[in-house]
Amino acid sequence: MAAEIVGLGTAVPPYVLTNADLEQLVDTNDQWITERTGIKERRIAGPAESTGSLGRLAAERALAVAGLGPSDVDLLVVATASPDHPLPSASCILQLELGMNRCAAMDVIAGCAGFVYALATAAQFVDSGAAETALVVGAETLSRIVDYADRSTCILFGDGAGAAVLRRGERGVRAFSLGSDGTRSRLLMTPAGGSRFPATARTVAERRHYILMEGREVFKGAVTAMSASSLEAIERSGLQPSDIDLVVPHQANQRIIEATARRLKVPMSDVVMNISRYGNTSAASIPIAIAEAWEQGQIRPGQRLLLTAFGAGLAWGSMVLDWTLAPPDERPPEEPTRSAMPIVRGLRDGSLWDSVDLIEATTGRLPADAAGSAP
Ligand code: ACO
Repeated sequence: MAAEIVGLGTAVPPYVLTNADLEQLVDTNDQWITERTGIKERRIAGPAESTGSLGRLAAERALAVAGLGPSDVDLLVVATASPDHPLPSASCILQLELGMNRCAAMDVIAGCAGFVYALATAAQFVDSGAAETALVVGAETLSRIVDYADRSTCILFGDGAGAAVLRRGERGVRAFSLGSDGTRSRLLMTPAGGSRFPATARTVAERRHYILMEGREVFKGAVTAMSASSLEAIERSGLQPSDIDLVVPHQANQRIIEATARRLKVPMSDVVMNISRYGNTSAASIPIAIAEAWEQGQIRPGQRLLLTAFGAGLAWGSMVLDWTLAPPDERPPEEPTRSAMPIVRGLRDGSLWDSVDLIEATTGRLPADAAGSAP
């Protein structure tokens, strides 16, 4: 028996930020971004969207594919680096969004490796029988912690969510390998807003609530860790590298993915790529990439998949699984898009939130009948 993926869903905001848009915000150009990263555009959450609301849409779609409802879930694991609030957990906010109030819910914070960590965690619960149905969600609104005045980071990141439903089946997760190196934590961090440097007028004025990154060092670490952990996961699965049909890497940078594929001796035709349209959506990137490849028929039952990811921490993880879920009968229709520029300008100067009532926005959403309904 193994933890098997029985449902998949994604959600991305309709607002698109192109490389041409970024040329108007910072000293950059389409050619540099395309050649160095492979990214052409990314999605940006609107003011009414959040990690929780994108996670809800992805989760509802994944549950619908599985033929299940929120009340069937007994474990919810959310991977994110951009929760709706510092407290409570993103998973409890997602419970609120989904109208759930009983199942176990927890967050996994492992940067861009978060979804692989969360999937591995949930798979242990399902494998052991501690949970019957697990919902694993990778959801991010990184635009809320990206500095649109910093060209070294703002070109990379985008928003979105992906979800997977796990149940016990005959085939599914075979093996995984997880790792991290806290000695390199300063290469990629959001310095303020935690207990070390809580929010003050000074931390805001000095723009310390945004992601800071030493890109070149992160790049080198990514290629080394993703290839090493991939080989370890494959070895633990009892397979050979040549047995892997398809690799779904974290969509960090096209050059990182190509360098990792070269080390694994995998042709790029066997690697799932959608970075050009979404950029780096951190913990959401792998579930979005899997779901799209599955909807397009690139992922099919009988295939052996390798997932591999790397991110802040530094943390990394790889997983080998047997795919069983039949492709959907119909592909979801493309939703119309709009420019994200007004939103990004509002994020950059903070004016996006000027008309939001902070008290109402945080207290007004609690359904009256949810209060006091704990077991
Ligand atoms: N436009 C134009 N020029 C730029 C830009 C830009 N947007 N950004 C940097 N440059 C310049 C630099 O200033 C530098 O100029 P200099 O040579 O005059 O000093 C030059 O381009 C090269 O800069 P590098 O940082 O060396 O560029 P590199 O090739 O490393 O690419 C990048 C930068 C894209 C950030 C790359 O290092 C990268 O992808 N790193 C990994 C990031 C990542 O994957 N993070 C994953 C985890 S995220 C998470 O966990 C939330």
